[in-house]
Amino acid sequence: MTHHHHQHKPKRGLWTSRLGFIMASAGSAVGLGNIWKFPYITGMHGGGAFVLFFLFCIVSVGIPIMIAEMVIGRHTHKDPVGAFRRLKGGPWTLVGWMGVIAGFVILSYYCVVAGWAVDYLWLSLKGTFSFSGRYAKEVPLIFGNLLADDWAQVFWQAVFMGLTVWIVLGGVASGLERANKIMMPILFLILITLAVRGVASPGGAQALNFLFTPDWGKLDAPSMLEAMGHAFFSLSLGMGAILTYGSYADESVNIPAVAFTVSVMDTFVAMLSGLAMFPIVFTYGMEPAAGPGLVFKTLPIIFAQMPGGFVISILFFMLLVFAALTSAISLLEVVVAYYCDEKKWDRRKATLVMGFIIFLLGVPSALSNNMLKDYHIIGDRNFLDSIDLVATNYLLPLGGLLIALFTGWVMTPKLARAEVEKGNIRFRFYGAWHFLIRYVTPVLVALVFLNKVGLF
Ligand code: PHE
Repeated sequence: MTHHHHQHKPKRGLWTSRLGFIMASAGSAVGLGNIWKFPYITGMHGGGAFVLFFLFCIVSVGIPIMIAEMVIGRHTHKDPVGAFRRLKGGPWTLVGWMGVIAGFVILSYYCVVAGWAVDYLWLSLKGTFSFSGRYAKEVPLIFGNLLADDWAQVFWQAVFMGLTVWIVLGGVASGLERANKIMMPILFLILITLAVRGVASPGGAQALNFLFTPDWGKLDAPSMLEAMGHAFFSLSLGMGAILTYGSYADESVNIPAVAFTVSVMDTFVAMLSGLAMFPIVFTYGMEPAAGPGLVFKTLPIIFAQMPGGFVISILFFMLLVFAALTSAISLLEVVVAYYCDEKKWDRRKATLVMGFIIFLLGVPSALSNNMLKDYHIIGDRNFLDSIDLVATNYLLPLGGLLIALFTGWVMTPKLARAEVEKGNIRFRFYGAWHFLIRYVTPVLVALVFLNKVGLF
């Protein structure tokens, strides 16, 4: 069963190995969310308390829902819409639908931000950060120049979407699994190097203090919702991405073990990113709340000064692009799986057509970043930040809430248990998981929502 190549199963793919499934799920989870988004929203929401609440959400909401999505996916071997229709149908099918819609929305702006990373890879190849003798103060201006250039952003967005489509066309298993196995460890190594360097630098102590000393007064209702929403975004939960990947897994997979491993890796990468960036913020007197450009404004300063900075800058942005790609393909996969399984499109058509439509949907996000024109949609947020807010703070947690309720109350405990323990796996914490998914997780998500609406 473990060596199941997809030519034996013409319609749906399967991972070629257990490790393939772990790496693909970790690849989906680890992405721009960890390296681009986590540090910048942590900066905007005041650090410590936000980080600790985020960690609390990973454990109490994220891990239980990741197990639930894998259980539903593997049990049905279907796309999210098909999975809910098969298990219950009726209004529950809407949960699957919400996931497909979230896939469209999130991927549209994800490609824009990933496009920035591709541009930075190109800049580092040109030696922009290492050989030009730039002063630290000039580095952040490079980012401003990119945002002011509408068509450069659309160009890199298109390049990135092209890469995503190309990989998804190749099918589920193949080359991607192999590439993942090499890239992830290198990404870890570089991040560890940058984090250690950061913590040992003059701004290190201040960064540690900022990241881990809670000032609970700063954790207001919007910050709590942002932290919880980010737990969903970062772990790829609430929209059926992990469900879809689970649908390609076979019985030999130990679901709880994979969910736990992936969550730990994902959290680790986020913390390392914070530890790499905030020392630079404090050393150079930058604003922690610098916003979505944080990663692009901080790390290049250090690349210019490190021995080997030229090579490290190239490697870093290459890996950032790669991490973004392994997440983007899981977003596109949700949409493609729906059109293949439910609409009986062939994979090629679904990938090309949907990739193109999602690219078009992303163009407003790219154009909205031009700071010379003030595009404000929600508060002082431009279009990109606004749909990111709606998707991650509302769509994903709502999807997650419904997935938790479905797993805890609609699926019978017997069915859920049989699915997690398939293939002779004994899930020692089954009781705890089922209690969490039935009571704790849905109540917590609901409380954070109600808190935001101002009910307390
Ligand atoms: N988890 C990915 C990241 O952190 C983003 C993502 C969200 C991927 C939802 C799939 C589904 O970058």
